Amino acid sequence: MREELIEKIEQLKRKKNAIILAHNYQRPEVQDIAEFIGDSLELARKAMATSADIIIFCGVDFMAETAAIMNPDKKIVIPDVGAICPMAQQLPAEDLLAAKREHPDAEVVLYVNTLAESKAIADCICTSANAQEIVNAMDTPTVLFGPDRNLAYHAQKTTTKTIIPVPEHGLCPSHHQIVLNDLITAKRAHPDAKVIVHPECIPAVQDSADYIASTSGMVKICKEAEAVDELLIGTEIGLLHRLEKEAPEKRFYPISTTAVCPQMKMHTLENIEAALENEKPEVVVPSETARKARKAIERMLEISH
Ligand code: 13P
Ligand code: SF4
Repeated sequence: MREELIEKIEQLKRKKNAIILAHNYQRPEVQDIAEFIGDSLELARKAMATSADIIIFCGVDFMAETAAIMNPDKKIVIPDVGAICPMAQQLPAEDLLAAKREHPDAEVVLYVNTLAESKAIADCICTSANAQEIVNAMDTPTVLFGPDRNLAYHAQKTTTKTIIPVPEHGLCPSHHQIVLNDLITAKRAHPDAKVIVHPECIPAVQDSADYIASTSGMVKICKEAEAVDELLIGTEIGLLHRLEKEAPEKRFYPISTTAVCPQMKMHTLENIEAALENEKPEVVVPSETARKARKAIERMLEISH
């Protein structure tokens, strides 16, 4: 049954010149049928580079919207419209405008995990892979940064600029579940393991890690770290599938097994097949919002190669 479904998906991809882009947190079976798996930055770049007519985007809303903003001529389809990142909802455009009024001399850097309307009023976008680089490249000594306070903390470590988080306590609910006690317990069970975490983790967890990186950065470090056989992974547990597949000689342990992003798990083989068949639900960003947001994304891509 599953084989038949996969065969149907492959046929539809060929017939419609479609590809599947999947985020590193997708279900294993979705990762396995994707043309490309990556972090937010890689997926945005991949969406721009493909010659496919249709992109089935298996990630959350802001990722699919970013692909749509950068590819007005391509059809971007998200298999389940319920895949809405709760962090991105934490910074409505009106709250950002209010913060801008309070700090008129600060440039605005927004994490890509944001609503398209908020991106449209940002000076530059960043991802977890380049937040430090982007903040340092801004023209003003003070930077408004949102919505993730933990990524702001990570960015602050390598800059003399003053970073003002907006909102004050923006966070990812899935990463917020990874607490220092989990790390201490995991370390006790695997004392030789290195610790690698995502910058959406709380400061106490970041401060106890050997490495901090984006999801694809984590994969790269895990694969390349010589003389490291065991790693404790501090992010959404979907990343474990890719790690185990690409570095089978190493052992990976999640710091918290409850760090699950339910929205990332909404795409299934069934709704991917339906999305390919019907070419919807299509992700459409209003053209004026897209035009403004594109400027902020392009600035990021110019700074971060
Ligand atoms: P990455 O860009 O590192 O994949 O992160 C995206 C995300 O939403 C992590 O929660
Ligand atoms: Fe959003 Fe967190 Fe899910 Fe990433 S893991 S998509 S930040 S809720």
